[in-house]
Amino acid sequence: MITLSDPAVSSPPVDPAPAQATDGLQLRSLTKVLGGRRIIDSLDLTVERGELVSLLGPSGCGKTTTLRMIAGFLTPDDGDILMAGRDVTRLGPDRRPSAMVFQNYALWPHMTVMKNVAYPLRVRRRPRAEVAQRVEVVLELVNLLHHKDSRPPRISGGEQQRVALARALVQEPEVLLLDEPLSNLDAQLRVKVREEIRELQQRLGITTVIVTHDQEEAMSISDRVAVMNAGRIEQFSTPVELYRHPETEFVGTFIGTLNRVEGAFDGERVVAGDGVVGVRPEDVVYSAQPRAGAVPAVVERVVPHGHFHEVRVRRDDVTLSAFVSGSAPAVGEAGFATIDAALIYRDGRLVRRVERAVR
Ligand SMILES: Nc1ncnc2c1ncn2[C@@H]1O[C@H](COP(=O)(O)OP(=O)(O)OP(=O)(O)O)[C@@H](O)[C@H]1O
Ligand SMILES: [Mg+2]
Repeated sequence: MITLSDPAVSSPPVDPAPAQATDGLQLRSLTKVLGGRRIIDSLDLTVERGELVSLLGPSGCGKTTTLRMIAGFLTPDDGDILMAGRDVTRLGPDRRPSAMVFQNYALWPHMTVMKNVAYPLRVRRRPRAEVAQRVEVVLELVNLLHHKDSRPPRISGGEQQRVALARALVQEPEVLLLDEPLSNLDAQLRVKVREEIRELQQRLGITTVIVTHDQEEAMSISDRVAVMNAGRIEQFSTPVELYRHPETEFVGTFIGTLNRVEGAFDGERVVAGDGVVGVRPEDVVYSAQPRAGAVPAVVERVVPHGHFHEVRVRRDDVTLSAFVSGSAPAVGEAGFATIDAALIYRDGRLVRRVERAVR
């Protein structure tokens, strides 16, 4: 027998959180018009002190524009920016308790690593002895002391990235801002460096905002992820919540893989209906043998991914992707498949998540 779970997961995709004070970072109704378009549209976001939040979204959705406003390089047309409870909206970048790491690092090629890192303190005319001491501490923190006399063109991409990070950290910011900090690194190094950044961020307890369009990166290092679409935040949740309860169809399809079928779900089959049924591939369970509640399914295609296979099965009139570990079924095999959980959307919004009761 099949029963449906409680429809208790739905909430509006954008809920303008009441403006409570935080000693982290707060954006209130932030708006930016560029070239006659509202690039950022009344955006609200609260990042708690010590939290790491990613701004994640497709190219052109406004991530960099948002970060540049937070950093003070771009003036909002409307709204407020608060850092550690203080309104910084009208302060320039140097007067804000924030520091930014740029996508291209923006290091001075002719200056040594040490001088690059010292630069923001020199600009602020800090005493020479203090500068030397703080630079030493921060270079030690990012494991670059041995390169202090090298020039950026002579060190690796990963090391340059750490110089840029050190140059931000040396300012002892309350809020650390990073725009696509790993996009210039190869895949392996990207994973290593993102873990280093997360480890350091947690050790220092520093409020951090990272801009990325790489969902795996965002999901693996963030406390919470703000998924952006066309200048707005579609959902702001923990990675697990984003994946399990994507509140809009956009988030559901943007995060991970989602089988998307028009219709309704009766707890067993997709039937005619006026909504959209979204099913994660791991919730499509294929087996060669019949099981309770399983529907006949034919294997149409098998795509190996190393440690698992993506198997496309045709059930009734619907093709679904399933993730299968272990040995792969043969194409053309006639087996059985269940839909163990489905996300039900209407007008792009999550109405409820339905689970199969009998497993
Ligand atoms: N100075 C400008 N004048 C007009 N439009 C602009 C300007 N700067 C940015 N835009 C537009 O604003 C939108 C958001 O740009 P933004 O750089 O914030 O996107 P993004 O999310 O960082 O994208 P990406 O992932 O490609 O870096 C884009 O459509 C861009 O073309
Ligand atoms: Mg960008």
